[in-house]
Amino acid sequence: MNSEVRRAAEVLRAGGLVAFPTETVYGLGADASSAEAVARLYAAKGRPADHPVIVHFATAEAAFDFAREIPQAARKLAEKFWPGPLTMVLKRSPLAKDFVTGGQDSVGLRVPSHPVAQALLREFDGGVAAPSANRFGNVSATTASHVVGEMDVDFVLDGGPSEVGIESTIVDLSSGEAVLLRPGGISKAQLEKILKVRDKQSDSPRHSGGLERHYAPKTPARLVAPHALDAEIAKLGADAAVLAFSKPDERVEYWIRMPKDPQGYARKLYAALRELDGAGCGTILIETPPDTAEWDAVRDRLSRAAG
Ligand code: TXA
Ligand code: MG
Repeated sequence: MNSEVRRAAEVLRAGGLVAFPTETVYGLGADASSAEAVARLYAAKGRPADHPVIVHFATAEAAFDFAREIPQAARKLAEKFWPGPLTMVLKRSPLAKDFVTGGQDSVGLRVPSHPVAQALLREFDGGVAAPSANRFGNVSATTASHVVGEMDVDFVLDGGPSEVGIESTIVDLSSGEAVLLRPGGISKAQLEKILKVRDKQSDSPRHSGGLERHYAPKTPARLVAPHALDAEIAKLGADAAVLAFSKPDERVEYWIRMPKDPQGYARKLYAALRELDGAGCGTILIETPPDTAEWDAVRDRLSRAAG
């Protein structure tokens, strides 16, 4: 792995694109200080140029160099959750260029904990701009082979399947209060042990995770309440692919049974959606998870998958 990490860092320095594992999902990385490299990144992803991208670092100290104001709350969150599945949006410093912030006055910063991501970021010794390594709007990648099947990249680091399985939690601290822009690997309850967090309103800064149909498979997907699943299956039969908590139903060929705990569910989610998407069925039926706070991040991704 060491020589691969060195090679990947060289590719980044030369302006290339490197897919790398993080604990949340795989990222598609480019040198955050290079306009050309980031332009290539947006082209590979098929992402509009005015969408900001998260910049990744090995340490909080390096990350904070990209911010010009570091509120006490940011330091506390960093101490508690970095390295880990948390992204903070802070007022940017001159190091965070328009081409990573989408022209906004804030920047998204993250210090991932995955050992291969850490090794790459240390070896590269700079900020790595990295969206999730999937085409814009698609389901994120949680294995190296998900990435290879979908995008043109210069180098892929394989670090096994991502542990968390869904994207980082994004907290915006650029306005004097903490606003939750995207639920994710760190729960709101965990954050609220440290500070008060408000849910976002519709006028919050642009972020593509905020688009309604995002993280979506190509096959139309629909959320179905547990008690309604049987009737839906009776209607669709083998044309349905099902993601559910219960045991497979013999009328359905493609059925993935999901864990009953939110962490286990999140870990399997994107691979499961990709598999069901590939089944060639007309509809993906997703059994709605419980309506409790611990399922917030999973429910968020599922409702977007269902558009
Ligand atoms: O777990 C993750 O966060 C993964 C891994 C690779 O780190 N990355 C990821 O990146 O999910 P991406 O680009 O797919 O989603 C990042 C979200 C986008 O919705 C983006 O618009 C938002 O973060 N974002 C980035 N910078 C922002 C900013 N300054 N203000 C508001 N939203 C921002
Ligand atoms: Mg994404």
